[in-house]
Amino acid sequence: LPIAAAALALGYLLGSIPFGLLLTKAAGLGDIRSIGSGNIGATNVLRTGNKKLAAATLLLDAFKATAGAVLAAALWGPEAGILGGFAAFIGHLFPVWLGFKGGKGVATYIGTLLGVAPAMVLVFALVWLSVAKLSRYSSLSALVAMLVIPVALWIISAEKVAIAMAIMTIISYWKHKANIERLINGTESKIGQKG
Ligand code: G3P
Repeated sequence: LPIAAAALALGYLLGSIPFGLLLTKAAGLGDIRSIGSGNIGATNVLRTGNKKLAAATLLLDAFKATAGAVLAAALWGPEAGILGGFAAFIGHLFPVWLGFKGGKGVATYIGTLLGVAPAMVLVFALVWLSVAKLSRYSSLSALVAMLVIPVALWIISAEKVAIAMAIMTIISYWKHKANIERLINGTESKIGQKG
C-alpha cells in the first residue's frame, strides 16, 4: 500500500503541472482559460494561432504522464507504473493548483499509454488521424481513439492496463460532455478554428 500511495502521489504531482496554461502565460497570450473553449489543452492552445506552443503543450502534457508511469515503474515495478500514469492523468484533469479545474486528458492519456503500452500509441495515432482527416474535429477523434484503446488492450490480454485505460476513457468522456453536446448539435469547432 505505501508503494501504491507513493506512485499515486508522484503521478498526481507530475500530472497536475498545467503546461498549456504556463506556456501561454509565459508567451504573453493571457489566460488560456478565457480563450476558445476555455480548456488548458493543446487543442485550445492552437486556437491562439501559435502552432509551436500547441505542439509543445501536447508533448509536455503527454510526457509528464509518461514520466509518471516510467518513474513509478522503475522505482516500484510495473503495476506501480500503471498507477503512476493513471494518477498523472487524474492530476491533469483535477489539479489542486487550479481549484481542481483541469483539462480533458487526451494528451495525458497518450502519455500514459506511451509509458505502459507503447505500441498502442500507434493505434491511438492511427485512429485519431483517420477520424481527424474525415471530420476535422479534435474532440471526436480523441473520443473514438479512447474507445478503441481499451478494447485493443483487452484483445491482446493486457487486462490490467485495459481496465486502467477504460476508467480513464470514462472520466475523459465526462470531461468532454460539452464537446459531445456541441458535436451532436453541430456547433463544435473544427481543428484550428477559433471560437
Ligand atoms: O479532444 C480534444 C479536447 O481536448 C477538446 O478540446 O478545447 O476543443 O474543448 P477543446
